[in-house]
Amino acid sequence: MGLAIETTGLVKTFGAQRAVDGIDLAVPAGTVYGVLGPNGAGKTTTVRMLATLLRPDAGRALVLGHDVVREAAAVRDLVSLTGQYASVDEDLTGEENLVLLCRLLGHRTPAARERAAQLLEVFGLTGAARRQVKNYSGGMRRRLDIAASIVSTPELLFLDEPTTGLDPRSRNQVWDIVRAVVARGTTVVLTTQYLDEADQLADRIAVIDAGRVVAEGTPGELKSSVGAGTVAVRLRDPEQREAARAVLATALGTPVRAAADPLALTARTPPGGAAGPAARALAELSAAGITVDEFALGQPSLDEVFLALTDRKEASAA
Ligand SMILES: Nc1ncnc2c1ncn2[C@@H]1O[C@H](COP(=O)(O)OP(=O)(O)OP(=O)(O)O)[C@@H](O)[C@H]1O
Ligand SMILES: [Mg+2]
Repeated sequence: MGLAIETTGLVKTFGAQRAVDGIDLAVPAGTVYGVLGPNGAGKTTTVRMLATLLRPDAGRALVLGHDVVREAAAVRDLVSLTGQYASVDEDLTGEENLVLLCRLLGHRTPAARERAAQLLEVFGLTGAARRQVKNYSGGMRRRLDIAASIVSTPELLFLDEPTTGLDPRSRNQVWDIVRAVVARGTTVVLTTQYLDEADQLADRIAVIDAGRVVAEGTPGELKSSVGAGTVAVRLRDPEQREAARAVLATALGTPVRAAADPLALTARTPPGGAAGPAARALAELSAAGITVDEFALGQPSLDEVFLALTDRKEASAA
């Protein structure tokens, strides 16, 4: 599969601060790529460089095969950006905003009206079409903003924190919209501070912190690299718990916790893939004559991954 974005050593400095400090990215075409990081990590700065709104100080970025500096106009023709802050006109209605954008893209008025009506319908805004945007809720505004960015189908869509501040229902609606956009073949680069959002939507994720990529991979790879998953065991006989605990500790090589429930044991899985050690642990429990009623392998949440990555960084910096 081709790459929609390829960057090497991308840098952006503001005064003495390196907001983006040598970022390498490879975004496969036709996927959702999550850029995850805390406040000030450099997400918006990175996206603005890729969308040709900011000029990199060093490094190189190809977007859909075009250099963002030397072929900025070609990049602009192919990408669309929904910024962190709403960019629609507050004094116009939702419908007027979309019709205006369609007209700017060269549609005649009847076609523009038709496209606007279609988008308002898809985004659940038909009822609010004739209301001024300044009277929209945050969620309605966000949806209108995304609608505005896909008036013409871009090859690549940047969504900068599309669901920040939205309630769970509106977030789900935005997620559905993103899935629909990708299903039509658009590549989406999505920045977010929400780990569950990246988990839900992204095929791959780059975790960035202080202007650098600290981890990259599929959500599953990121989780298993941290190895903070759990093995949960439920025994038939509480008398066997001490024996089971010893077997698990040896097989997994991690501390085993006896839960309040006298039949339950839990342990962390070792880094680098949990399935092998867990299968060995189960076989050894059985070989030791211990009856196991339940054996469950859980992956860590991305929250745990994120905290672990940040911890590790702080530990090595200290
Ligand atoms: N135009 C600017 N002038 C000076 N400093 C800037 C400018 N834009 C960004 N910065 C700084 O660069 C760093 C990265 O900012 P950026 O907006 O890229 O972060 P972010 O990851 O998008 O954060 P957030 O999650 O808060 O949106 C921050 O420390 C910010 O203060
Ligand atoms: Mg930002």
